[in-house]
Amino acid sequence: MAFKKLAIGNDHVAVEMKNEIMAYLQEQGYEVINVGTDSTERFNYPVSGYKVAKMVASGEVDGGILICGTGVGISLSANKVHGIRCVTCSEPYSARLSRQHNNTNCVAFGARVVGIETAKDIVDAWLGAEYEGGRHQVRIDMLTEIETTQALAAAQE
Ligand code: RB5
Repeated sequence: MAFKKLAIGNDHVAVEMKNEIMAYLQEQGYEVINVGTDSTERFNYPVSGYKVAKMVASGEVDGGILICGTGVGISLSANKVHGIRCVTCSEPYSARLSRQHNNTNCVAFGARVVGIETAKDIVDAWLGAEYEGGRHQVRIDMLTEIETTQALAAAQE
């Protein structure tokens, strides 16, 4: 199990799905820290996206799970934090490949887009896959270069 300790975040649209995914993961032995809202009152997704991302980037947790209506806003929020590679997906294939090739450290999906069984499949695929390194590391290093310098030497060639 590459990821043992996880943070989970959500907005008001995704409270029920967050609770179901959290219980599903806890049953499997994962430690899950909930930093999302537990209320269906309107809640701005960047707050949860940011909180989860900071915990992942600092190493406090191994990975992050983010759920809003589409998964888009909350993943954009997380991806603004240095060191975060968050995939938004609505099927398990992209979730698995995002671990193997892109070394994602957060996964996002939409409570208005996928049903709970697909959400579980996404989480299973994402948590079950390992980063392959090798040729993929060159590209991850380029992502970090863009993030830290707002430039990319290879694009000048
Ligand atoms: C909330 O209405 C909605 O905008 C949010 O859950 C999410 O889908 C944003 O990306």
